[in-house]
Amino acid sequence: MSIPKDFTPAAASLADRVILVTGATSGLGRALAIECARAGATVILSGRNPAKLDRVYDEIAAMKAPRPAIAVLDLASATAVDYDALAKSIGAEFGKLDGLVHTAGLLGDRTPLEQYDVPTWCKVLHVNLTAPFILSQVLLPLLRKSTDASVIFVSSGVVRNSRPFWGAYAVAKTALESVRSLLSQELDGEPNIRVNSINPGRMRTPMRAAAYPAEDASTVPTPASVTGPFLYLLSAQGRGTNGEYFDAQ
Ligand SMILES: NC(=O)c1ccc[n+]([C@@H]2O[C@H](COP(=O)([O-])OP(=O)(O)OC[C@H]3O[C@@H](n4cnc5c(N)ncnc54)[C@H](OP(=O)(O)O)[C@@H]3O)[C@@H](O)[C@H]2O)c1
Repeated sequence: MSIPKDFTPAAASLADRVILVTGATSGLGRALAIECARAGATVILSGRNPAKLDRVYDEIAAMKAPRPAIAVLDLASATAVDYDALAKSIGAEFGKLDGLVHTAGLLGDRTPLEQYDVPTWCKVLHVNLTAPFILSQVLLPLLRKSTDASVIFVSSGVVRNSRPFWGAYAVAKTALESVRSLLSQELDGEPNIRVNSINPGRMRTPMRAAAYPAEDASTVPTPASVTGPFLYLLSAQGRGTNGEYFDAQ
């Protein structure tokens, strides 16, 4: 199965949709939040850094797009109280959730397992794997209130091409595919919720620069250039696509 890589949503085609994007302060999350807003969505910008969230908020506000919302949540340290508070506030303000994109991610160390720092291992698994699971679980009641909800997990090339030294990042992204598969099958009888994953491929972001410091960044695609498949799955055209993995490039 394939989806259009160069999909551009028609103007206002995401109007009336409420879409939460984690990692909205940087790279793919920021680019996707802006594109969703451009297509008329009300975006809930989630991140751990309030000042960076404010900057993305201002960028969207300057576009005359629907006013976004901000949800400060540090996925490394959030507790059940924080997750419940987020669900409660989205419920109170919007009454539903139409899109949930798990963009936030942490690279961790690129080192042999023999030397891999155990606290870093735990943090990377928590932010990249456990946090998206918890967020999906706690927001499921609001996704059920939507007539057409889409959950997207952000995958990576390390899932299909196992490479040494990618440590906890590779393990977390591989396990995230299991979460996507289990959740999509468990919700199979609910056609109003689709669950998929997309590997964005290499993108010119701080994470990529940290992983490949010697690379010429100008040769790497911008995050904005790979948002098409994400926008497709978030739009009405994505309805019926469930349980799949896609490559954005
Ligand atoms: N770049 C690539 O080439 C590439 C390739 C394949 C897959 N991916 C995946 O694409 C996604 C986006 O990556 P990116 O390249 O756009 O990286 P990025 O620019 O480094 O952005 C990562 C985002 O995750 C957020 N984040 C990190 N730790 C967090 C925490 N504890 N709580 C909340 N948010 C946290 C960051 O927040 P701050 O701004 O506060 O740091 C930032 O918004 C990731 O899932 C990554 O694994 C990237």
